[in-house]
Amino acid sequence: MIDGGDDSDECDGGLASRRGLDDVAVYQPAEDSGLLAEAAVAEAHGRVLEVGTGSGWVAQRIAEERDLDVVGSDLNPHAARQARERGVEGVVADLLSPFRADAFDAVCFNPPYLPTDPDNEWDDWMEHALSGGESGRELIEPFLADVGRVLAPGGVVLLLVSSLTGYDEVLELVEDAGFTAAPVVEESFPFETLTVLALRRE
Ligand SMILES: C[S@@+](CC[C@H](N)C(=O)[O-])C[C@H]1O[C@@H](n2cnc3c(N)ncnc32)[C@H](O)[C@@H]1O
Repeated sequence: MIDGGDDSDECDGGLASRRGLDDVAVYQPAEDSGLLAEAAVAEAHGRVLEVGTGSGWVAQRIAEERDLDVVGSDLNPHAARQARERGVEGVVADLLSPFRADAFDAVCFNPPYLPTDPDNEWDDWMEHALSGGESGRELIEPFLADVGRVLAPGGVVLLLVSSLTGYDEVLELVEDAGFTAAPVVEESFPFETLTVLALRRE
């Protein structure tokens, strides 16, 4: 189903990894992670994929609290390794590209979503974890365009959306991809509101 990728250190030069400092290169659980986990534990069923698994904490919670098979994928090989250390099937993958059609009953994603001025971007793994490019939606767009392919009939997508990313713009992309959206959990913070949407085929 997956090609598994490799553990190359191509992006950060490997220094942190060689010193055993993977945490500095891997997104650690935060408020957004907690919301995605809450929604996924409530809604996921069957075989589950968490795209952009980071530390693997969300995937581990789904696996343990729902007793489901969960794959955690990430572009960042340090993240895939951390997920494996938590007992999650962690693999290196760019979004959904290596996965087979109809492979999963639930797909979860807390995407990199901060709108980022190209002049301010920095080329390391934390940028990959945080930056959604200029619009904030540069990862969400290709994800939504392809997720229907890997989703089995009756499947559900759990997507975290920030008000910073443009809630209405994301809803438009969701509709264009042939899904209906229903909020599962929502929480407001001083600078943003985070919502996890459950997407199902129309
Ligand atoms: C906001 S973090 C979320 C991490 C974790 N899911 C959580 O909620 O704590 C986004 C994650 O997406 C990963 N990522 C970025 N671009 C990716 C891509 N093209 N394919 C797969 N994962 C990607 C980052 O490496 C990062 O781990």
